Amino acid sequence: MNVNGQHYRAIWLSKENPQIVEIIDQRYLPHRFVIHPLKTVEDTAFAIKEMQVRGAPLIGATAAYGMYLAGLNARRNNIEDIDQMYAEVFDTLLATRPTAINLQWALERQKAAIATVDTLEEKIAVSLATAKNVCDEDVEICKNIGLHGLPLIEAISKKKKGETVNILTHCNAGWVATVDWGTATAPIYMAHEKGIKVHVWVDETRPRNQGARLTSWELNEHGVPNTVIVDNVGGHLMQHGMVDMCIVGTDRTTYTGDVANKIGTYLKALAAHDNGVPFYVALPSTTIDWKTADGFSIPIEQRRASEVTHIQGLLQNGKVEQVQLTPTASQAANYAFDVTPARLVTGLITERGICVASEAGIKGLFPEKGQSRT
Ligand code: MRU
Repeated sequence: MNVNGQHYRAIWLSKENPQIVEIIDQRYLPHRFVIHPLKTVEDTAFAIKEMQVRGAPLIGATAAYGMYLAGLNARRNNIEDIDQMYAEVFDTLLATRPTAINLQWALERQKAAIATVDTLEEKIAVSLATAKNVCDEDVEICKNIGLHGLPLIEAISKKKKGETVNILTHCNAGWVATVDWGTATAPIYMAHEKGIKVHVWVDETRPRNQGARLTSWELNEHGVPNTVIVDNVGGHLMQHGMVDMCIVGTDRTTYTGDVANKIGTYLKALAAHDNGVPFYVALPSTTIDWKTADGFSIPIEQRRASEVTHIQGLLQNGKVEQVQLTPTASQAANYAFDVTPARLVTGLITERGICVASEAGIKGLFPEKGQSRT
């Protein structure tokens, strides 16, 4: 999607040097647009862990490129035991963030691809091709999520006789959380491009404010009207008929339809359920955990307390700084995700269409996964 009118993806191979992967360092958005090079596995692990890149699909794409960088590093350093090296890199990258299952999916895909060839040079070539494919496929998947979600927005617009459709979203499931388009935002961008009047209520999404910093910025860059609200406002808006639908993303959805997403998603789903507001989850099939039936067995990442006790913003002197919010003596807990049970989800918007959040619904769209349960 666009930044200052110029098209970007969220990750790409450097045009000047194909041994370097480039990302947008999301820690500095929206105040500074910084392109950051990844040259090593260590750079890649740091980028995922410290959230220079974030969002389940982009985490997966970055890890896929990490496996390519690992091969280049082995060539530079004449590493002899290549299999051992790839196994260690796999573990290092997998440990960076526990909830988003796209990370594991992308690493498994690279592992399988790398195992099909023998020499290091072949492994480097195949891992580069795989990383590029992961990215290109993600773009197509998100486009299709948009195409399948668009009729939902069109139907509400028609029912409201062309009045603005108000959509609430949480966190950032936008294009910077994927390679392009986003998941939750893809139907919104498509509706906007089609001339349907849409307005987005953007949950700020404490503690890291992905909504306030990233979603609002993205939507502004495309001229989509949006309003940032603090995380506690959604219920009030829904009680007053000011939200027509919710669309959120997910980091991992069980094959039974339980949805792990950014902390606070569950409370929005409860409020939506209580007020009869449709609550949709947009996701690529790469985010489905085909082995887990119960959402409460999904590992929930806990991050450092300083993300809660401190907040980052733009100072009047133009510098981006962190300031302390809480008393120095206060402890803080930082649960990064929660689980919304399938019963609170109106539907899942996938690249193959929309389904009920249930095993039957999901496997109806992905019948080839029917035997995947362990
Ligand atoms: O901690 P983050 O910023 O990586 O969390 C991101 C989310 O919760 C997104 O909603 C999810 O990854 C879906 S991104 C298309």
